[in-house]
Amino acid sequence: MSVLVAGGAGYIGSHAVRQLIAAGHAPVVVDSLFRGHRQAVPDGVPFYQHDLTETDALAKLMRQHAIECVIHFAALTYVGESVQQPLLYYANNTAGSISLLRAMQAAGIKRLVFSSTAATYGEPDETPITETCRQRPTNPYGWSKWMVERVLQDQAAADPEFAAVALRYFNVAGCAADGSLGEDHTPETHLIPSILLAALGREKKLTIFGDDYPTPDGTCVRDYIHVDDLCAAHLVAMEALEPGRLEAYNLGIGRGYSVREVFDAAEAVVGRKIPVDAGPRRPGDPAVLYADSTKIQRALGWSPRYTDIESIIATAWSWFQAHPNGYGN
Ligand code: UFG
Repeated sequence: MSVLVAGGAGYIGSHAVRQLIAAGHAPVVVDSLFRGHRQAVPDGVPFYQHDLTETDALAKLMRQHAIECVIHFAALTYVGESVQQPLLYYANNTAGSISLLRAMQAAGIKRLVFSSTAATYGEPDETPITETCRQRPTNPYGWSKWMVERVLQDQAAADPEFAAVALRYFNVAGCAADGSLGEDHTPETHLIPSILLAALGREKKLTIFGDDYPTPDGTCVRDYIHVDDLCAAHLVAMEALEPGRLEAYNLGIGRGYSVREVFDAAEAVVGRKIPVDAGPRRPGDPAVLYADSTKIQRALGWSPRYTDIESIIATAWSWFQAHPNGYGN
């Protein structure tokens, strides 16, 4: 299938492009390179540098490549940044997605796999979180994605041929097992890459954001899913798209690890102590988030291959050891 990968030069998108090629699909990448890396796109894959707001240019390349399905990763994803710059998030994530949808409409493309987030649930009423839990985001990032889900639902109701799936990611982590693709964010704020950069001496001393949560060791609990397992779910979801509806699936491994457990696992992987202090809570962090992903397991037969945190961290460590300066070297 000819697949347009929006955001295909980013961390998750680049892993998806590789899987699409391996599965015999023909990916075409569009990326603004605002946070993506041209080097993450394999030679031979058509690449276009466009912002999602360039509706006409997107429609043109969709027609040119006879695109059959769009997988949409192109988004800004920092919760803290979204609180400080909400307009940036609504413009990129919400308005950008609407522009992409208008380009799809102009080009007659009816199939979309959309990257949504656990942040659309906000502070959950219960864990594990199922897809039917109330969605009540607590920051502009979560709202910017929630609004797109709403748009997709309405579009699927209006157009019986429009087929979409929203995949609600929990904490995506790890890198391609051979260390060739990875995570290269500036700034880096996520827990696992920050720990590994600190292990390489590339990051200042780390802080645990709060050790007084109502959890067994007092630190926040999250559900870390390997990027390759996450991308595999996109391929099965793409094949299973059903006209006239928006389907939503959680993507996590269904087990939570505390921040301290992540530190312990990372120390075991890198083989040394990583200095850290406990500090105050980070505003907006829920205490416990982990997924019930049985819906996608039952409906589409997907299941994660990486189910323990050490093996996930080990793949990220391969990347950071080989590329301490990210794609810059
Ligand atoms: N943390 C620390 N110290 C750090 C960095 C993180 O203690 O230096 C903690 C956080 O407080 C949190 C956990 O580690 O409890 C994980 O933090 P991340 O920043 O890695 O990830 P988040 O859980 O904040 O965010 C992730 C995705 C978001 C998504 C969110 C959904 O990155 O895009 O899950 O809840 F919105």
